[in-house]
Amino acid sequence: MTPTPVPPVPTLHSLRALGAAQQPRWPDPDALEAAVAKLRSVPPLVFAGECDDLKGKLAAVARGEAFLLQGGDCAETFEGVTADNVRNKLRVLLQMAVVLTYAASVPVVKLGRLAGQYAKPRSSEDETRDGVTLPAYRGDAVNGFDFTAASRIPDPQRLVEVYHCSAATLNLVRAFVTGGYADLRQVHTWNTDFVRDSPVGRRYEKVGKEIDRALTFMQAIGADPDEFHRVDFHSSHEALILEYEHALTRIDSRTQQPYDVSGHFVWIGERTRQLDGAHVELLSHIRNPIGVKLGPSTSPDDAIALAARLNPDNEPGRLTFITRMGAGRIRDRLPELVEKVTAAGVSVGWVCDPMHGNTFETASGYKTRRFDDVIAEVQGFFDVHRMLGTWPGGVHVELTGDDVTECVGGGEALLEGDLGNRYESACDPRLNRVQSLELAFLVAEMLREATPTNIPDA
Ligand code: PEP
Ligand code: CO
Repeated sequence: MTPTPVPPVPTLHSLRALGAAQQPRWPDPDALEAAVAKLRSVPPLVFAGECDDLKGKLAAVARGEAFLLQGGDCAETFEGVTADNVRNKLRVLLQMAVVLTYAASVPVVKLGRLAGQYAKPRSSEDETRDGVTLPAYRGDAVNGFDFTAASRIPDPQRLVEVYHCSAATLNLVRAFVTGGYADLRQVHTWNTDFVRDSPVGRRYEKVGKEIDRALTFMQAIGADPDEFHRVDFHSSHEALILEYEHALTRIDSRTQQPYDVSGHFVWIGERTRQLDGAHVELLSHIRNPIGVKLGPSTSPDDAIALAARLNPDNEPGRLTFITRMGAGRIRDRLPELVEKVTAAGVSVGWVCDPMHGNTFETASGYKTRRFDDVIAEVQGFFDVHRMLGTWPGGVHVELTGDDVTECVGGGEALLEGDLGNRYESACDPRLNRVQSLELAFLVAEMLREATPTNIPDA
């Protein structure tokens, strides 16, 4: 299919004129211009051809032939760009993907919420502590987490730092996924330290042994062991800060089409999806696969109009709707949305974000989520899709590869009183590694029921 010719990407100036929600108030226009000029000159972080590969995989998700696993921090931080941190996140995603693939025999598309996830929309412009009010923290892309006046001033030089941190992260991820660390024959080595001795770690070991046997069998019948050596892994983040995403939007020399080369997949958040706003306008011009978060206030007409703006050719794999309704509302809000969007003939992948509709604050002031609510939303998502005969295409989760205490519940039964032990998120609470693996086993069961194949229990 020849896509409709893409009109030129609007200038940053004309985008700003449309009005963009959730933008920092940069105090120094010259410093901003200098940062943008720098970003316009740097090499791409990803290649357009890789974005197209991912789009092909997401087309399989939309057709019901693959499942998307998208996950990572709510907010990456510059400080968090260390080898251990990146490896731990990648490792938990690989473990989850193995569980999902093995249990349901469905290809799993692996998409990190990383190498660019540095900017955050906020529900309030300001934050008040002990009578002092300062601008809210908007992610390391914009200002500092420390609660001081100096640190909270938006600094555009941070956008350049986002680029470098994303490059460093992506470089390491690429090394891991092609250099042998992600080799399927390594399934046991990913199951290290504190996880191995947990009940879910032992369950994972059993899956690992089954996979060993399957690989030995494959080799015995002549499969090339190098087939198991590398995995496909892509990067994603919310396209929030116009200056950054615009500066990294480039014309692909092969196709003459514009791509946002800051990540393979970018999404529009629930708070910036205004149909006539700057985010929708910018993303309508790029050729990457893109997502839109849809919260409980989304009407079917909103979703259909977004699809018409963002994917006028109805290109498969181009558009993913990431619903985040909340456990209590998904069974009420999702059916009509999916039904009408499907009836309108819209080609889209449906993915469940069971995190952002389930956040609450404890009496002691920690932002948290209940593991059971997360699972209940995913279960509601699967049930609604089963009822409608549509495909539950994936999950989008905030997680970390570390042993943090940010979400309550799960097999380790973390309590509100435990949250202070290791609460490290710069923004929303993440599932820790054990909780993430538990989620993978539970989703795998749901996925197995959603697929016609009859595979024994993992
Ligand atoms: C997020 O993904 O961190 C986020 C802010 O989500 P949403 O746009 O769905 O609120
Ligand atoms: Co979040």
